[in-house]
Amino acid sequence: MDNSHSFKNSNWLDGERLCPINVSPLFFSFLLCKATGKKGEALKNASHEELEPSCQAASDASFHSVSFSESDHPRVLITGGLGQLGVGLAKLLRKRFGKNNVILSDIRKPPDNVFHSGPFIYSDILDYKNLREIVVNNRITWLFHYSALLSAVGEANVPLARSVNITGLHNILDIAAEHSLRLFVPSTIGAFGPTSPRNPTPDLCIQRPRTIYGVSKVHAELMGEYYHYRYGLDFRCLRYPGIISADSKPGGGTTDYAVQIFHDAMKTGKFQCNLKPDTRLPMMYIDDCLRATLEIMEAPAEGLSMRTYNISALSFTPEELVQEVQKHIPELEVSYKVDAVRQAIADSWPMIFDDSNARQDWGWKHDYDLPDLVNTMFTFLDSARSISRVAQVN
Ligand SMILES: NC(=O)c1ccc[n+]([C@@H]2O[C@H](COP(=O)([O-])OP(=O)(O)OC[C@H]3O[C@@H](n4cnc5c(N)ncnc54)[C@H](O)[C@@H]3O)[C@@H](O)[C@H]2O)c1
Repeated sequence: MDNSHSFKNSNWLDGERLCPINVSPLFFSFLLCKATGKKGEALKNASHEELEPSCQAASDASFHSVSFSESDHPRVLITGGLGQLGVGLAKLLRKRFGKNNVILSDIRKPPDNVFHSGPFIYSDILDYKNLREIVVNNRITWLFHYSALLSAVGEANVPLARSVNITGLHNILDIAAEHSLRLFVPSTIGAFGPTSPRNPTPDLCIQRPRTIYGVSKVHAELMGEYYHYRYGLDFRCLRYPGIISADSKPGGGTTDYAVQIFHDAMKTGKFQCNLKPDTRLPMMYIDDCLRATLEIMEAPAEGLSMRTYNISALSFTPEELVQEVQKHIPELEVSYKVDAVRQAIADSWPMIFDDSNARQDWGWKHDYDLPDLVNTMFTFLDSARSISRVAQVN
């Protein structure tokens, strides 16, 4: 029986792989041996041809010449790295593992400051061959999979969301299993739905989301865990709440209002909120989110009683956020113009997230509460504004 054929062809919507056959017999036997703890046998049984790299080196991998040290540091790839979270994650990981050990990738053109801050490479997660070349050529060991279409954007383009969030994830899972990577995939509060308990929402409960984003994230959680139990993939997943950041723009999620308010308050003194004033949602400052991501990746595997964890920090309504913001800008004028799509999504999501398992298993603890978060946002935006004023004067 040609197991590789059934494995490879069962999970792609994107049709053709450019060089699937060359790797799959070894891969399948490797996976089987991995599951039975006989890794060496797969390699022993593999023919020379199977062990030869089958695709040419990527011509655009500009850092081939970078010689990675043979230290213990992981060699990291971040997909979808130019969104709200990826640049900050790269900064954190580069501090810890060294600049050249962390490669940021996306399908968009990076701004100058990002391009000059460390290795950047083009990578479309729908292009399996390109992904594999990057992993092989750069000897990647850890992969943070950030590419996705978020909730509101996903509802506006379901076929694209299905393709990026589901087909793209299949590519990532196979690459990660094939090359024994440690894989991080973020999930979200959006992986729950109106029939989930909302206050609080535990790790394990009914998950029937009603957005393509939520459906694709439940799929990612289940597929990652399946690959973990079936093939030994070191899959790790956190369900993020809405993330608030000052130096990066949100990518079209339902919690975006909680970032926009700061920009509008400073620019115009007026803010129009697209959710009702009493819509309670779990939120987190970006530094807490990125630290949690590094911590779960570094946590000893034996301490993890599960592979997908809720993480939480605070939970507030637009009304409560406005009150806190008005402590800094009392003259802020707020109006509400509810966006029906976003409101329906928010009304189906958790209000309070129960993250007790993360706190117990690997010591998760948030740093920022609401006043800290608001202070930090204004401090950052104030200093950014002064810098840009100085630049204009000069
Ligand atoms: N930001 C949040 O509040 C939040 C909350 C929960 C979960 N998450 C998850 O965290 C991850 C990162 O979120 P974000 O806010 O940075 O997202 P974002 O929307 O800001 O960025 C996503 C990136 O993916 C890239 N992308 C799209 N199609 C791609 C493709 N085919 N190949 C490669 N890249 C592609 C986009 O160019 C974009 O830069 C996502 O998986 C998201 O679901 C984010």
